[in-house]
Amino acid sequence: MKSVRVAQARVSRPPAPGIRPLLAAAIAARAHAFAPYSKFQVGAAIEDAEGRIHTGCNVENATYGLTLCAERVAVFKAISEGVRKFRRVAVAADTDVLTPPCGACRQILWEFGGNLEIQLANLVEEKGRHHLKNLLPLPFDARLL
Ligand code: THU
Repeated sequence: MKSVRVAQARVSRPPAPGIRPLLAAAIAARAHAFAPYSKFQVGAAIEDAEGRIHTGCNVENATYGLTLCAERVAVFKAISEGVRKFRRVAVAADTDVLTPPCGACRQILWEFGGNLEIQLANLVEEKGRHHLKNLLPLPFDARLL
């Protein structure tokens, strides 16, 4: 397991009831990650308002900058299938310190999910539960346009 020394975000709670299938889907999606450059494989799974699960993995590109994170792939897949309402999202990576969504993904998650619940996990435990408003304070969104 990769070990990194980064302060874990402070607003973190135990796993939510019934989160296991979403986490399992995120871990399974991680196996499809296309990450030949960073070797950092991430899986994400987002649950919609009907309880359906949409998965994503990171997809890297030789230009580096065109890389898409697992979270955005999961959201865009769901959006492209007509889904518009989401409940919660799980993110899984093989790290001791859990991997939170990057800034770009937080913005995209906010656009479609508002104050979503975000469950972080590595391959052995799920221990970081957050709400998006705590990870993205003062968001820019349609209300400001
Ligand atoms: N990555 C994700 O897919 N999700 C995250 O939450 C953090 C970062 C990916 C992007 C890139 O392929 C690799 O991890 C290293 O940054």
